[in-house]
Amino acid sequence: MSETSPKLRAELEGIPTYKPGKPAAAGGQAAAYKLSSNENPYPPLPGVMERVTAAVAEFNRYPDMACTALMSELAGRFGVPLSHIATGTGSVGVAQQLVQATSGPGDEVIYAWRSFEAYPIITQISGARSVQVPLTDGDVHDLDAMADAITDRTRLIFVCNPNNPTGTVVRRAELERFLDRVPSDVLVVLDEAYREFIRDPEVPDGVELYRERPNVCVLRTFSKAYGLAGLRVGFAIAHEPVAAALRKTAVPFGVSHIAQEAAIASLEAEDELLGRVGSLVCERQRVSEALRAQGWTVPESQANFVWLRLGERTTEFAEACERHGVVVRPFAGEGVRVTIGETEANDIFLKVAEAFRETK
Ligand SMILES: Cc1ncc(COP(=O)(O)O)c(C=O)c1O
Repeated sequence: MSETSPKLRAELEGIPTYKPGKPAAAGGQAAAYKLSSNENPYPPLPGVMERVTAAVAEFNRYPDMACTALMSELAGRFGVPLSHIATGTGSVGVAQQLVQATSGPGDEVIYAWRSFEAYPIITQISGARSVQVPLTDGDVHDLDAMADAITDRTRLIFVCNPNNPTGTVVRRAELERFLDRVPSDVLVVLDEAYREFIRDPEVPDGVELYRERPNVCVLRTFSKAYGLAGLRVGFAIAHEPVAAALRKTAVPFGVSHIAQEAAIASLEAEDELLGRVGSLVCERQRVSEALRAQGWTVPESQANFVWLRLGERTTEFAEACERHGVVVRPFAGEGVRVTIGETEANDIFLKVAEAFRETK
């Protein structure tokens, strides 16, 4: 028998593999903290745990494929028709469904760069071409340049607000001006994975923009503010026919019964969960101010992480953090993204940052 391997799609060649944040134990430290994946450091709420535990007893059954109870909860909360909501395996799953639904070989997907590292991956898988528009010098989306990059092959544009990994935002007036320039047959996806951490009143709620504009779709997740990263549930709010296309491109039964129950219980416990978000926002403030006092330039973050543009010293800095028991997320040659975590973890990170500055 000849030793040829199965033929795979040529588009898959050269796709960067998604790099998950390193686990906390990677440094071999006894008390290591993971600040590398923008997770919520708080453990699950007891009430959510109870619902999950009850749901576990039913895992011999398939979940409700339509996520009916969760969808109706979300529809009521946002004041949108049920048919405008689509759930998926995390918002990254929904983002991939959106690319699959709109883009294929010969098409173009525009997004800022650097931004969420899944965008190039899911675009390349679809066979479409990525058009990466550099962030401004202040690490903010360059919306004018993004609008200039639109061609008749553009199918989808991601606007990550706040942007991962810089934490920076685009505000109402500039976003509306941008949306006015986008042709109505091009889908704009407002990725609002970190929406609940925003305190800048000038940042618009994407759901308000969606109401007026049929080509705008909003992505949200239960992974960050609601602390359900491990259960994989996110959703989109979009007009028809986009929402219907999302149901077509979904992995059947992708959102487990456990995840659906946890999401509903989390919505019911929203006050408590948003209280935790408030504490993390205070920590973000404290960490940002302490870094600036040490002399660092820190872009104003509206998310649950901060960005240090370290350039050539990125890897060295990440290694120093790891040696002291905190794992951060380096982007070699560019900078590190550091999640706001437990106070002890943030304090260790601040100490490392201070010592590192002194060696500069
Ligand atoms: C901007 C952005 N969008 C989407 C996601 C995906 O999150 P999830 O798939 O857990 O909902 C992330 C995760 O880090 C993110 O940073």
